[in-house]
Amino acid sequence: MTDAPILGPINHISDLSTASDFEKKHTPHIGISASGDVTTVTVTVGWGVPHPNQPDHSITWITIYAGEAPIARFDLAAVASTPTVSVVVDLESGTLVRAIAHCNMHGLWTAEVTL
Ligand SMILES: [Fe+2]
Repeated sequence: MTDAPILGPINHISDLSTASDFEKKHTPHIGISASGDVTTVTVTVGWGVPHPNQPDHSITWITIYAGEAPIARFDLAAVASTPTVSVVVDLESGTLVRAIAHCNMHGLWTAEVTL
């Protein structure tokens, strides 16, 4: 098993429309849904281009931040095909939500959206 660095560098692809398949399959996709007072943040890795999830190559964790503060972390086993995680949040409009995903072979990948 390869262990890519967990302290950086962090890959940030700002425009997925021009990204390679390699970049697309690693970059977290952040979806925001609101229903009444409930806001749900859903992060998917492998959005549009599936990431391999095998014992020697997989997404091992996803952490979600509000600004600089971590608000949720998910540790994943290789059986998590197209890893998708969700958390219900109580955050003010305008909050920057960021997700970081770790691939054990290809390191850290991030994306962000503003609520
Ligand atoms: Fe990977």
